[in-house]
Amino acid sequence: MKGKILVTGGTGYIGSHTTVELINAGYEVISMDNLSNSNIEVLDGIEAITGIRPKFYEADCNDEAAVERIFSENPGIVGLIHFAASKAVGESVQKPLLYYRNNLLSLIVMLEAMERHGTKGIVFSSSCTVYGQPEVLPVTENAPVQEALSPYGNTKQINEEILRDAIYAGAPYKAIRLRYFNPIGAHSSALIGELPLGVPQNLIPYLTQTAAGIRQELSVFGDDYNTPDGSCIRDYINVVDLAKAHVIAIERILDEDKQSEPLETFNIGTGRGVSVLELINTFEQVTGVKVPHKIVGRREGDIEQVWANPKHANEVLGWEAKETLADTLKSAWAWQERITKKA
Ligand code: UFG
Repeated sequence: MKGKILVTGGTGYIGSHTTVELINAGYEVISMDNLSNSNIEVLDGIEAITGIRPKFYEADCNDEAAVERIFSENPGIVGLIHFAASKAVGESVQKPLLYYRNNLLSLIVMLEAMERHGTKGIVFSSSCTVYGQPEVLPVTENAPVQEALSPYGNTKQINEEILRDAIYAGAPYKAIRLRYFNPIGAHSSALIGELPLGVPQNLIPYLTQTAAGIRQELSVFGDDYNTPDGSCIRDYINVVDLAKAHVIAIERILDEDKQSEPLETFNIGTGRGVSVLELINTFEQVTGVKVPHKIVGRREGDIEQVWANPKHANEVLGWEAKETLADTLKSAWAWQERITKKA
Protein backbone atom coordinates (compact mmCIF):
# COMPACT_ATOMS: atom_id res chain seq x y z
CA MET A 1 0.00 0.00 0.00
CA LYS A 2 1.28 3.41 -0.94
CA GLY A 3 -0.68 5.44 1.61
CA LYS A 4 -4.15 6.61 2.48
CA ILE A 5 -5.87 9.12 0.23
CA LEU A 6 -9.12 10.76 1.25
CA VAL A 7 -11.39 11.38 -1.73
CA THR A 8 -14.29 13.78 -1.17
CA GLY A 9 -17.13 13.46 -3.63
CA GLY A 10 -15.90 9.89 -3.93
CA THR A 11 -19.07 8.42 -5.43
CA GLY A 12 -19.44 11.24 -7.96
CA TYR A 13 -18.57 11.06 -11.64
CA ILE A 14 -14.91 12.06 -11.53
CA GLY A 15 -14.46 10.92 -7.92
CA SER A 16 -15.46 7.33 -8.71
CA HIS A 17 -13.16 7.06 -11.74
CA THR A 18 -10.29 8.54 -9.75
CA THR A 19 -10.93 6.10 -6.89
CA VAL A 20 -10.51 3.23 -9.36
CA GLU A 21 -7.22 4.63 -10.68
CA LEU A 22 -5.91 5.28 -7.15
CA ILE A 23 -6.72 1.71 -6.10
CA ASN A 24 -5.11 0.37 -9.28
CA ALA A 25 -2.01 2.40 -8.46
CA GLY A 26 -1.81 0.84 -4.99
CA TYR A 27 -3.31 3.54 -2.77
CA GLU A 28 -5.79 2.93 0.03
CA VAL A 29 -8.80 5.11 -0.65
CA ILE A 30 -11.04 6.52 2.05
CA SER A 31 -14.11 7.80 0.24
CA MET A 32 -16.61 10.34 1.51
CA ASP A 33 -19.72 11.76 -0.12
CA ASN A 34 -23.00 13.20 1.13
CA LEU A 35 -24.77 11.35 -1.72
CA SER A 36 -26.60 14.54 -2.69
CA ASN A 37 -25.76 13.97 -6.35
CA SER A 38 -24.57 10.37 -6.47
CA ASN A 39 -25.59 6.86 -5.61
CA ILE A 40 -24.12 4.44 -3.06
CA GLU A 41 -24.25 1.67 -5.70
CA VAL A 42 -21.29 3.32 -7.37
CA LEU A 43 -19.22 1.49 -4.73
CA ASP A 44 -20.35 -1.83 -6.25
CA GLY A 45 -18.98 -0.71 -9.61
CA ILE A 46 -15.67 0.32 -8.08
CA GLU A 47 -15.44 -3.02 -6.29
CA ALA A 48 -16.32 -4.97 -9.44
CA ILE A 49 -13.53 -3.23 -11.37
CA THR A 50 -10.78 -3.26 -8.75
CA GLY A 51 -11.72 -6.11 -6.41
CA ILE A 52 -11.54 -3.64 -3.53
CA ARG A 53 -14.39 -1.79 -1.86
CA PRO A 54 -13.12 1.51 -0.53
CA LYS A 55 -13.99 2.45 3.03
CA PHE A 56 -16.91 4.83 2.65
CA TYR A 57 -18.38 7.55 4.83
CA GLU A 58 -21.71 9.16 4.03
CA ALA A 59 -20.80 12.61 5.25
CA ASP A 60 -20.81 16.24 4.23
CA CYS A 61 -17.55 18.17 4.00
CA ASN A 62 -19.21 21.05 5.82
CA ASP A 63 -19.87 18.83 8.83
CA GLU A 64 -16.75 19.57 10.85
CA ALA A 65 -17.42 16.86 13.43
CA ALA A 66 -17.85 14.22 10.73
CA VAL A 67 -14.69 15.35 8.94
CA GLU A 68 -12.74 15.24 12.20
CA ARG A 69 -14.04 11.73 12.86
CA ILE A 70 -12.96 10.53 9.41
CA PHE A 71 -9.43 11.86 9.87
CA SER A 72 -9.21 10.49 13.45
CA GLU A 73 -10.51 7.04 12.51
CA ASN A 74 -8.05 6.83 9.63
CA PRO A 75 -4.74 8.06 10.96
CA GLY A 76 -2.07 8.79 8.39
CA ILE A 77 -4.15 10.20 5.54
CA VAL A 78 -1.31 11.54 3.37
CA GLY A 79 -3.31 13.21 0.62
CA LEU A 80 -6.69 14.66 -0.12
CA ILE A 81 -8.44 14.88 -3.48
CA HIS A 82 -11.29 17.32 -3.16
CA PHE A 83 -14.06 16.76 -5.71
CA ALA A 84 -17.07 17.41 -3.50
CA ALA A 85 -18.90 20.48 -4.79
CA SER A 86 -22.21 21.59 -6.18
CA LYS A 87 -21.72 21.95 -9.91
CA ALA A 88 -24.85 23.03 -11.76
CA VAL A 89 -24.16 26.40 -13.34
CA GLY A 90 -27.85 27.34 -13.74
CA GLU A 91 -28.80 26.30 -10.21
CA SER A 92 -25.93 28.38 -8.84
CA VAL A 93 -27.48 31.49 -10.37
CA GLN A 94 -30.77 30.69 -8.60
CA LYS A 95 -29.19 29.69 -5.28
CA PRO A 96 -25.89 31.56 -4.95
CA LEU A 97 -25.66 31.31 -1.16
CA LEU A 98 -26.10 27.55 -1.29
CA TYR A 99 -23.20 27.38 -3.75
CA TYR A 100 -20.96 29.67 -1.73
CA ARG A 101 -21.74 27.73 1.45
CA ASN A 102 -21.28 24.29 -0.09
CA ASN A 103 -18.23 24.97 -2.19
CA LEU A 104 -16.23 27.50 -0.17
CA LEU A 105 -16.88 26.32 3.37
CA SER A 106 -16.18 22.70 2.48
CA LEU A 107 -12.69 23.54 1.21
CA ILE A 108 -11.93 25.54 4.35
CA VAL A 109 -13.13 22.71 6.61
CA MET A 110 -10.98 20.20 4.72
CA LEU A 111 -7.87 22.40 4.77
CA GLU A 112 -8.19 22.97 8.51
CA ALA A 113 -8.54 19.23 9.08
CA MET A 114 -5.52 18.53 6.84
CA GLU A 115 -3.44 20.91 8.92
CA ARG A 116 -4.52 19.30 12.22
CA HIS A 117 -3.73 15.83 10.92
CA GLY A 118 -0.50 16.46 9.02
CA THR A 119 -1.86 15.64 5.54
CA LYS A 120 0.82 16.41 2.98
CA GLY A 121 -1.20 17.84 0.14
CA ILE A 122 -4.41 18.42 -1.73
CA VAL A 123 -5.43 18.08 -5.35
CA PHE A 124 -8.22 20.52 -6.09
CA SER A 125 -10.79 20.23 -8.89
CA SER A 126 -10.78 23.51 -10.70
CA SER A 127 -12.12 24.30 -14.12
CA CYS A 128 -11.30 25.98 -17.40
CA THR A 129 -14.28 28.15 -16.54
CA VAL A 130 -11.79 30.43 -14.71
CA TYR A 131 -10.48 31.61 -18.12
CA GLY A 132 -13.87 32.81 -19.37
CA GLN A 133 -13.50 33.42 -23.12
CA PRO A 134 -9.70 33.43 -23.52
CA GLU A 135 -8.20 35.87 -26.00
CA VAL A 136 -5.51 33.41 -27.05
CA LEU A 137 -6.24 29.79 -27.95
CA PRO A 138 -5.21 27.19 -27.01
CA VAL A 139 -5.28 28.62 -23.51
CA THR A 140 -2.30 28.27 -21.17
CA GLU A 141 -2.23 28.45 -17.38
CA ASN A 142 -0.81 31.96 -17.64
CA ALA A 143 -3.93 33.35 -19.30
CA PRO A 144 -5.69 35.86 -17.06
CA VAL A 145 -8.51 34.65 -14.85
CA GLN A 146 -11.62 36.50 -15.93
CA GLU A 147 -14.65 37.60 -13.99
CA ALA A 148 -16.83 34.55 -13.41
CA LEU A 149 -20.13 34.26 -15.27
CA SER A 150 -21.92 32.36 -12.50
CA PRO A 151 -21.70 31.83 -8.73
CA TYR A 152 -20.54 28.28 -9.51
CA GLY A 153 -17.65 29.61 -11.59
CA ASN A 154 -16.91 32.15 -8.91
CA THR A 155 -16.59 29.41 -6.28
CA LYS A 156 -13.89 27.77 -8.42
CA GLN A 157 -12.00 31.06 -8.63
CA ILE A 158 -12.36 31.87 -4.94
CA ASN A 159 -11.30 28.35 -3.97
CA GLU A 160 -8.21 28.72 -6.15
CA GLU A 161 -7.46 31.93 -4.25
CA ILE A 162 -8.14 30.33 -0.86
CA LEU A 163 -5.57 27.66 -1.70
CA ARG A 164 -3.07 30.23 -2.94
CA ASP A 165 -3.44 32.39 0.16
CA ALA A 166 -3.23 29.45 2.56
CA ILE A 167 -0.08 28.13 0.86
CA TYR A 168 1.58 31.54 0.67
CA ALA A 169 0.82 32.06 4.36
CA GLY A 170 2.94 28.99 5.04
CA ALA A 171 0.39 26.19 5.30
CA PRO A 172 2.10 22.87 6.08
CA TYR A 173 0.76 21.17 2.94
CA LYS A 174 1.15 21.46 -0.81
CA ALA A 175 -1.54 21.93 -3.43
CA ILE A 176 -2.11 21.16 -7.07
CA ARG A 177 -4.97 22.89 -8.83
CA LEU A 178 -6.18 20.96 -11.87
CA ARG A 179 -8.20 23.00 -14.33
CA TYR A 180 -10.40 20.48 -16.08
CA PHE A 181 -11.79 21.07 -19.51
CA ASN A 182 -14.96 19.08 -20.36
CA PRO A 183 -14.82 15.57 -18.84
CA ILE A 184 -16.80 12.96 -20.77
CA GLY A 185 -17.05 9.20 -21.26
CA ALA A 186 -17.00 6.31 -18.83
CA HIS A 187 -14.76 3.51 -17.59
CA SER A 188 -14.08 0.96 -20.35
CA SER A 189 -15.83 -1.73 -18.28
CA ALA A 190 -19.07 0.32 -18.36
CA LEU A 191 -19.38 -0.46 -14.65
CA ILE A 192 -19.13 3.20 -13.63
CA GLY A 193 -19.96 6.38 -15.52
CA GLU A 194 -21.83 9.64 -15.27
CA LEU A 195 -25.19 9.40 -13.47
CA PRO A 196 -26.96 12.73 -13.77
CA LEU A 197 -30.04 13.16 -11.61
CA GLY A 198 -33.04 14.49 -13.51
CA VAL A 199 -32.76 16.15 -16.89
CA PRO A 200 -29.06 16.40 -17.84
CA GLN A 201 -27.66 19.89 -18.30
CA ASN A 202 -24.42 18.78 -19.95
CA LEU A 203 -24.03 17.82 -23.56
CA ILE A 204 -22.92 14.18 -23.39
CA PRO A 205 -25.50 12.76 -20.98
CA TYR A 206 -28.22 14.63 -22.87
CA LEU A 207 -26.86 13.28 -26.16
CA THR A 208 -26.62 9.66 -25.00
CA GLN A 209 -30.09 9.81 -23.42
CA THR A 210 -31.44 11.14 -26.72
CA ALA A 211 -29.67 8.35 -28.62
CA ALA A 212 -31.25 5.88 -26.18
CA GLY A 213 -34.72 7.33 -26.83
CA ILE A 214 -35.12 8.70 -23.30
CA ARG A 215 -35.14 12.27 -24.64
CA GLN A 216 -36.80 13.19 -27.91
CA GLU A 217 -34.30 15.60 -29.35
CA LEU A 218 -31.01 17.22 -28.46
CA SER A 219 -30.98 21.01 -28.67
CA VAL A 220 -27.80 22.45 -30.12
CA PHE A 221 -27.38 25.80 -28.43
CA GLY A 222 -26.50 28.13 -31.30
CA ASP A 223 -24.94 27.76 -34.76
CA ASP A 224 -24.11 31.41 -35.27
CA TYR A 225 -20.87 31.57 -33.28
CA ASN A 226 -17.65 32.66 -34.86
CA THR A 227 -16.42 29.08 -35.31
CA PRO A 228 -16.01 26.99 -38.50
CA ASP A 229 -19.47 25.38 -38.25
CA GLY A 230 -21.04 28.02 -36.02
CA SER A 231 -21.44 25.80 -32.92
CA CYS A 232 -19.42 26.16 -29.71
CA ILE A 233 -16.04 24.53 -29.33
CA ARG A 234 -14.81 22.67 -26.22
CA ASP A 235 -11.96 20.38 -25.23
CA TYR A 236 -13.56 17.05 -24.30
CA ILE A 237 -11.32 15.07 -21.99
CA ASN A 238 -11.80 11.36 -21.29
CA VAL A 239 -12.76 10.87 -17.65
CA VAL A 240 -10.27 8.01 -17.14
CA ASP A 241 -7.45 10.13 -18.55
CA LEU A 242 -8.59 12.88 -16.18
CA ALA A 243 -8.69 10.44 -13.25
CA LYS A 244 -5.10 9.40 -14.03
CA ALA A 245 -4.01 13.04 -13.84
CA HIS A 246 -5.08 13.01 -10.17
CA VAL A 247 -3.00 9.94 -9.40
CA ILE A 248 0.04 11.58 -10.99
CA ALA A 249 -0.66 14.81 -9.08
CA ILE A 250 -0.88 12.95 -5.75
CA GLU A 251 2.34 11.07 -6.53
CA ARG A 252 4.00 14.39 -7.28
CA ILE A 253 2.84 15.89 -3.98
CA LEU A 254 4.06 12.89 -2.00
CA ASP A 255 7.45 12.73 -3.72
CA GLU A 256 9.60 15.32 -1.93
CA ASP A 257 11.92 15.57 -4.96
CA LYS A 258 9.23 16.23 -7.54
CA GLN A 259 7.13 19.17 -6.42
CA SER A 260 9.46 22.01 -5.54
CA GLU A 261 6.79 24.72 -5.64
CA PRO A 262 4.13 24.26 -2.96
CA LEU A 263 1.36 25.38 -5.31
CA GLU A 264 1.02 24.34 -8.93
CA THR A 265 -1.69 24.69 -11.56
CA PHE A 266 -2.24 22.52 -14.62
CA ASN A 267 -4.65 22.49 -17.53
CA ILE A 268 -6.11 19.03 -17.96
CA GLY A 269 -7.33 18.81 -21.51
CA THR A 270 -6.48 17.17 -24.81
CA GLY A 271 -5.38 20.25 -26.72
CA ARG A 272 -8.06 19.52 -29.32
CA GLY A 273 -11.08 21.75 -29.83
CA VAL A 274 -14.26 20.00 -31.01
CA SER A 275 -17.53 21.68 -31.94
CA VAL A 276 -20.93 20.51 -30.77
CA LEU A 277 -21.90 19.51 -34.31
CA GLU A 278 -18.62 17.65 -34.85
CA LEU A 279 -19.19 15.80 -31.60
CA ILE A 280 -22.68 14.70 -32.64
CA ASN A 281 -21.35 13.54 -36.04
CA THR A 282 -18.50 11.60 -34.48
CA PHE A 283 -20.88 9.95 -32.02
CA GLU A 284 -23.19 8.89 -34.85
CA GLN A 285 -20.28 7.54 -36.89
CA VAL A 286 -18.63 5.49 -34.16
CA THR A 287 -21.80 4.07 -32.61
CA GLY A 288 -23.99 3.86 -35.71
CA VAL A 289 -26.79 5.41 -33.65
CA LYS A 290 -28.63 8.52 -34.80
CA VAL A 291 -29.01 11.49 -32.49
CA PRO A 292 -32.11 13.54 -33.39
CA HIS A 293 -31.12 17.16 -32.90
CA LYS A 294 -32.18 20.65 -33.78
CA ILE A 295 -30.48 24.02 -33.69
CA VAL A 296 -31.94 26.39 -31.13
CA GLY A 297 -30.85 29.76 -29.77
CA ARG A 298 -27.68 30.34 -27.80
CA ARG A 299 -27.60 29.34 -24.12
CA GLU A 300 -26.98 32.27 -21.84
CA GLY A 301 -23.49 32.38 -20.40
CA ASP A 302 -21.92 29.94 -22.89
CA ILE A 303 -18.32 30.54 -23.87
CA GLU A 304 -17.87 30.53 -27.65
CA GLN A 305 -14.71 28.46 -27.82
CA VAL A 306 -12.11 27.16 -25.45
CA TRP A 307 -9.53 24.42 -25.59
CA ALA A 308 -6.42 23.66 -23.62
CA ASN A 309 -2.77 24.03 -24.21
CA PRO A 310 -1.82 20.97 -22.12
CA LYS A 311 1.96 21.41 -22.59
CA HIS A 312 2.61 22.30 -18.96
CA ALA A 313 0.81 19.15 -17.76
CA ASN A 314 2.54 17.07 -20.45
CA GLU A 315 6.03 18.28 -19.64
CA VAL A 316 5.99 19.03 -15.92
CA LEU A 317 3.37 16.63 -14.62
CA GLY A 318 4.28 13.95 -17.16
CA TRP A 319 0.61 13.39 -17.97
CA GLU A 320 -1.11 13.36 -21.31
CA ALA A 321 -4.56 12.57 -22.65
CA LYS A 322 -4.37 9.18 -24.39
CA GLU A 323 -7.90 8.16 -25.34
CA THR A 324 -9.32 9.14 -28.72
CA LEU A 325 -12.58 11.03 -29.00
CA ALA A 326 -14.06 8.04 -30.86
CA ASP A 327 -13.26 5.57 -28.07
CA THR A 328 -14.40 8.05 -25.44
CA LEU A 329 -17.77 8.48 -27.14
CA LYS A 330 -18.07 4.70 -27.50
CA SER A 331 -17.50 4.36 -23.75
CA ALA A 332 -20.19 6.96 -23.03
CA TRP A 333 -22.59 5.00 -25.21
CA ALA A 334 -21.72 1.61 -23.66
CA TRP A 335 -22.41 3.13 -20.23
CA GLN A 336 -25.72 4.64 -21.37
CA GLU A 337 -26.81 1.31 -22.84
CA ARG A 338 -26.00 -0.42 -19.57
CA ILE A 339 -27.94 2.00 -17.39
CA THR A 340 -30.87 2.09 -19.82
CA LYS A 341 -31.14 -1.72 -19.60
CA LYS A 342 -30.98 -1.63 -15.82
CA ALA A 343 -33.69 1.01 -15.48
N1 UFG B 1 -24.76 22.02 -25.33
C1 UFG B 1 -25.78 21.90 -26.26
N2 UFG B 1 -26.93 21.27 -25.90
C2 UFG B 1 -27.11 20.77 -24.65
C3 UFG B 1 -26.06 20.88 -23.71
C4 UFG B 1 -24.93 21.54 -24.09
O1 UFG B 1 -25.65 22.34 -27.41
O2 UFG B 1 -28.19 20.21 -24.38
C5 UFG B 1 -23.51 22.68 -25.73
C6 UFG B 1 -23.19 23.91 -24.93
O3 UFG B 1 -23.77 25.04 -25.50
C7 UFG B 1 -21.67 23.91 -25.00
C8 UFG B 1 -21.30 22.43 -25.08
O4 UFG B 1 -22.47 21.77 -25.49
O5 UFG B 1 -21.26 24.53 -26.16
C9 UFG B 1 -20.84 21.87 -23.76
O6 UFG B 1 -21.82 22.17 -22.78
P1 UFG B 1 -21.80 21.50 -21.34
O7 UFG B 1 -22.98 22.02 -20.59
O8 UFG B 1 -21.65 20.03 -21.45
O9 UFG B 1 -20.45 22.04 -20.72
P2 UFG B 1 -19.97 23.55 -20.49
O10 UFG B 1 -18.77 23.72 -21.36
O11 UFG B 1 -21.03 24.53 -20.61
O12 UFG B 1 -19.65 23.53 -18.95
C10 UFG B 1 -18.86 22.55 -18.40
C11 UFG B 1 -19.34 22.20 -17.00
C12 UFG B 1 -19.13 23.31 -16.05
C13 UFG B 1 -17.76 23.86 -16.17
C14 UFG B 1 -17.45 24.22 -17.58
C15 UFG B 1 -16.06 24.70 -17.76
O13 UFG B 1 -20.71 21.90 -17.01
O14 UFG B 1 -19.30 22.79 -14.77
O15 UFG B 1 -17.59 23.06 -18.37
O16 UFG B 1 -15.22 23.85 -17.11
F1 UFG B 1 -17.62 24.97 -15.42
